[in-house]
Amino acid sequence: MRKSEIVRHELPEAVWPTAEEARRARWFQPIDLGPVRARTRTWIPAMVPWRATEDGDVTPDVIDWYARFARGKPGVLVVEATGVRDIPSGPLLRIGHDRFLPGLRKLVDAVRDASEGQTRLFIQCIDFLTIRRRPEKAKFFARFLAITDAHRDAMKSRGLTAPEDEDAIRAQLAELDDSVLRDILSEREWQDYAYGYRESVNDTHLPHVASLPEVLPPLFAAAATRARSAGFDGVELHYAHAYTMASFLSRRNMREDGYGGSPEARVRLPLEVFAAVRREVGDDYCVGTRLLGDEVIEGGSRIQDAIYYSREFARAGMDFISVSKGGKFEDAKQPQVGSAAYPYTGPSGHECMPTVRSDARGPFGRNVHLSADIRKAVRTDGLETPIVTAGGVGTFELAESILERGDADVVAAARQSLADPDWFLKIERGEGAAVRRCIFTNYCEGLDQKHKQVTCQLWDRLFADGDNVALSHDGKRRLVAPD
Ligand SMILES: Cc1cc2nc3c(=O)[nH]c(=O)nc-3n(C[C@H](O)[C@H](O)[C@H](O)COP(=O)(O)O)c2cc1C
Ligand code: SF4
Repeated sequence: MRKSEIVRHELPEAVWPTAEEARRARWFQPIDLGPVRARTRTWIPAMVPWRATEDGDVTPDVIDWYARFARGKPGVLVVEATGVRDIPSGPLLRIGHDRFLPGLRKLVDAVRDASEGQTRLFIQCIDFLTIRRRPEKAKFFARFLAITDAHRDAMKSRGLTAPEDEDAIRAQLAELDDSVLRDILSEREWQDYAYGYRESVNDTHLPHVASLPEVLPPLFAAAATRARSAGFDGVELHYAHAYTMASFLSRRNMREDGYGGSPEARVRLPLEVFAAVRREVGDDYCVGTRLLGDEVIEGGSRIQDAIYYSREFARAGMDFISVSKGGKFEDAKQPQVGSAAYPYTGPSGHECMPTVRSDARGPFGRNVHLSADIRKAVRTDGLETPIVTAGGVGTFELAESILERGDADVVAAARQSLADPDWFLKIERGEGAAVRRCIFTNYCEGLDQKHKQVTCQLWDRLFADGDNVALSHDGKRRLVAPD
């Protein structure tokens, strides 16, 4: 999307149905997701609210966050990306050990109570590779860069002196301008310096990256087993956005160990992970995935790849396929020194969470064509796997028209549900005019980027100083959506 193409879009007019119309609407009909029946085809996809402890445990704030969504009785609520490993991951929720079970059980119970048993609760299971903050220049050249003769040669070819002494060359590099360093450092070293060190699935020289195909299936399988034992109705394998499994599916995956290169090789580990999960949890447990209909980045996977993967997943017996778009590190903006790259800052990030500042197509239902193409292909194979779409849905008509056209089987809404967690219920009751409408300007996403507790700016419009409500750590924002 070129800057000159960007316009600010108005929110579409909303015409809300009566309670009777809503009762008959496609969006409010039940759907079977494998062994699980959802009461309606409304869905809240995963959203990380940064409310877990530093050890990845459920907190009362995590419980309040999900119970608040559950009060609006969506058909399905998906718990945020939750780490499958037992390693420190900051305040990211985790499911990599049995000690997380008591907290997760409380979360399940709270959602059951708040939704009066009407919402099906899934948990999104994620693996990710190491990413570090962008280093200070002095530190990078003093400590992190491995000096080689390639640096000396590159310096000499630019007429610079290149001392043999390591301390001296480090000091000299630290003095050079970025425009010169760009030529002296290898592409990878430049990325490490300018964006922060980030591992990729192509780094098979690192033993822990080479061994991912052996390590990940049992890790995901154990996580899914815990999810089942904690009482979740299903798991969503996170094969989307910037993380390990999406990187295996990416066309940029060039591994030469049978898990990269061709589409067949790229889908191999995701299928092996699913098979391991299925083996552990059995056929009577709901297991689906979230994948990318388009990675958006240069050299990345496109819809034809996503169609191929989805057909494979459907054939393998996944219970749903949720389609997202973009959200990659490769085109993320350069972070400030001391911050890590964030995968929703570049063009692919915009496609993942489109805002009202968009090209002529606008943000509303922007990614539906991807789920439509995937659904068509899966149906052509004679498979009924439900397909979930998301991206810029904030009105009843849009959701209903997607289902009417057969572009998806389920319509998810993340930010609109954050703005007003009661909106599904309000529509069902014929009270749509009371919906607090998301304005799609991504204040919430800005908080996510800073790993601050995620809230919606609209909640605070109803907030008066002195109200006795729970506040965010900075004391300025309402922590839970008002009624
Ligand atoms: C604060 C925030 C956190 C998110 N966290 C996740 C996540 O953990 N996993 C995921 O698959 N998508 C995540 N997303 C993306 C949403 O699930 C959704 O795909 C995206 O916001 C587009 O849908 P929408 O237009 O209905 O908001 C997040 C979005 C937001 C706004
Ligand atoms: S902060 Fe803005 S974009 Fe996010 S949910 Fe609220 S209104 Fe929507």
